[in-house]
Amino acid sequence: MPSADEIRAAQRATWGGLSTGWEKWDSVIMDQLGPVGAAMIECLDIAEDHQHLDIASGTGEPGLSIARLSPQGRVVLTDLVPEMLAVAARRADAQGVANIETQVCSADDLPFDDATFDSVSVRFGYMFFPDMGKATAEFARVLKAGGRVCSSVWVKPEENPWTTIAMQAIATEAVVGPPDPDGPNMFRCAAPGYVGALYEGAGLRDVAEWDVGVELVTRSPAQYWEMISEHVSLAVAALQQVDEPARERIRANAIAKVSAFEKDGKVRVPGVARCIVGTKQDASGTRPREGARPANAG
Ligand SMILES: C[S@@+](CC[C@H](N)C(=O)[O-])C[C@H]1O[C@@H](n2cnc3c(N)ncnc32)[C@H](O)[C@@H]1O
Repeated sequence: MPSADEIRAAQRATWGGLSTGWEKWDSVIMDQLGPVGAAMIECLDIAEDHQHLDIASGTGEPGLSIARLSPQGRVVLTDLVPEMLAVAARRADAQGVANIETQVCSADDLPFDDATFDSVSVRFGYMFFPDMGKATAEFARVLKAGGRVCSSVWVKPEENPWTTIAMQAIATEAVVGPPDPDGPNMFRCAAPGYVGALYEGAGLRDVAEWDVGVELVTRSPAQYWEMISEHVSLAVAALQQVDEPARERIRANAIAKVSAFEKDGKVRVPGVARCIVGTKQDASGTRPREGARPANAG
């Protein structure tokens, strides 16, 4: 079992290497993940002057969208990996978003005072943290009473063909072992209630979760393969194990499979994410914004 330091070092190396792919494929990735960010933002009740913390911000979402909704507020974009935050800062500049700052830190050790933020978001970051319980306790600590945290994770692989098509093609040529259930991997938090239990353990209340559909849209099967093989952590790692002829066979296999999803001149591959929201109680145990749960929460 790797130590927390070893997990962080491996994550730094992985995401440092993926940052170029994430910047190159920015618009395709953001279109795919946009509905999840929108669902998260809806339940965070963002005010014009919100102090917001975005964890595992990567290239900046949903933090940058929240900064636009909170022009008198401030959004702190945090991530373990400086290369990812450098992309976020370039995207903020390009979009004219100035009320943000970036801070390199690990989710389980936040450099902020208690009760600093009105809300916290974590889009597709949870599954990579060395200690998810400790990270959740940190989110609860830095939230003000009544503040909410909303995160999103991927549900099981069978409901996410946008990534399983590529992984099945890779498995025809490379050894892709079962992921360590206790180590970072894309589907580590897929079980219903998994993140909710972490929230409850950290004292968050009014916990609710609901699923959100996504669609990865590319111009062609070839473009699907190009973008997946340049930005999905599992695929990039597995492809490093094989030689060029094997990579070419994997590419052909993935392209053939994804062609089944061609529709109206585009390739549209579905997936499903889960959003989880929770609220920090105030000292008296009441929930200041009780009743304001998202309409679509289960
Ligand atoms: C899939 S990306 C998500 C990026 C962004 N939130 C989005 O949805 O577009 C996952 C991010 O988690 C970050 N990460 C991994 N381990 C972390 C940790 N211990 N603390 C904070 N961020 C971490 C990675 O560097 C990467 O940027």
